[in-house]
This record gives sequence, C-alpha cells and structure tokens, in this order.
Amino acid sequence: MTIRLIPFFFLALILAACTGSGPTAAEPPTPLPQPTELPTPDPVLLGREVFSRICAACHGLDAEGYANELNAPALNTAEHASEHPDQQIHDWVMNGKLGLGRQMPPQGDNLTDEEIHAVIAYLRTLWTEEQLSRQQDITSRWPATPEPTWTPGP
Ligand code: HEC
Repeated sequence: MTIRLIPFFFLALILAACTGSGPTAAEPPTPLPQPTELPTPDPVLLGREVFSRICAACHGLDAEGYANELNAPALNTAEHASEHPDQQIHDWVMNGKLGLGRQMPPQGDNLTDEEIHAVIAYLRTLWTEEQLSRQQDITSRWPATPEPTWTPGP
C-alpha cells in the first residue's frame, strides 16, 4: 500500500468499527412463560416412578412378574393384564385382589388417586398396540364405578 493510501485505510477501519460490528438494535425481551404454559407432569413418568416404588417389589422392575414369594403375575405382554379395563385395575390397586392361592394387598393407603391413574397410564405403555386398543375398548364399555371386588378385613 502506498503512503498516500494509509489515511484512507484507517478511515475505512474506523467506519467498519462504527457500522458493522456495533450492538444491533435492542430486540424485544423474550416473554416469560405464563403459568398456564407450564408443562403439566407426564402421567407416564409419574406412573413409572410409582411402579418402581410400589409395584416392582412383587411384579418385578420390568413388570415381568414373580419377583417374590407372593407370585404376582407379569403385567407386561407375557400374561393377560391388558385384558382388564382401567376400572378393574384401579379397584384392585386401591382395594387389593384375591386370587387362587395368592392375593395382592390393597395399595390405597400408599397412593393418591392421581398416582393410581398414572400407574395405569404406565402399564398401557407395556402392551402391544393391539392389546392396548382392545383394553381401551373394554375400558370404554365398562361401568364407570364398579363395586370394589374385595374390601380388606378390619
Ligand atoms: C405385595 C405384592 C404386590 C404389590 C406391591 C402389588 N401387587 Fe399387583 N398383584 C399381586 C399378586 C399376588 C397378584 C395376583 C392376584 C390374583 O391372583 O388374583 C396381583 C395382581 C395384579 C393385577 C392383575 C393381573 C392380572 O393379569 O390379573 C394387576 C393389574 C396388578 N396386580 C397391578 C398392580 C399394580 C399397578 C401395583 C402397584 C401399584 C401392584 N399390583 C402392586 C401382588 C402385588
């Protein structure tokens, strides 16, 4: 660069500094999420937590069944848990279930209604699409509030 061009060079540098890389016009601040937009807890996640905390002791961590001497059946595709409507499962979890030579103790005192619904939502994720659609069908036809099948003794 010739000596005479040097001032222009600096002028160009100064112009570039002023225009190009300076702070851009202030952008409007991102609005904070409103309370109604807060994510609601995912029932399946809650249900999985409930399952591992309460049910897995007997039904196994993967719902494969037979985790202890009570011989709790599998609740996944291996057996027929998916043949029962939500209302029945809700009742059994709440009040317990008598079987042939085995029984499930009631869990109603350990769980809120929301947690029982959540654990059922989790069980649904264990079934095949066909099992699930049959289970949803029977659930939609089942009476909404069946009598408890078993009320624990005093
Ligand atoms: C203390 C052990 C124990 C715990 C804890 C337990 N269960 Fe059970 N569960 C059993 C036994 C035993 C049976 C079998 C009863 C029978 O033969 O009718 C059973 C049966 C069931 C059935 C019926 C399955 C079928 O195919 O007929 C469902 C559904 C079920 N349990 C869900 C649950 C859920 C959900 C939880 C957790 C909230 C849970 N159980 C906790 C022992 C348990």
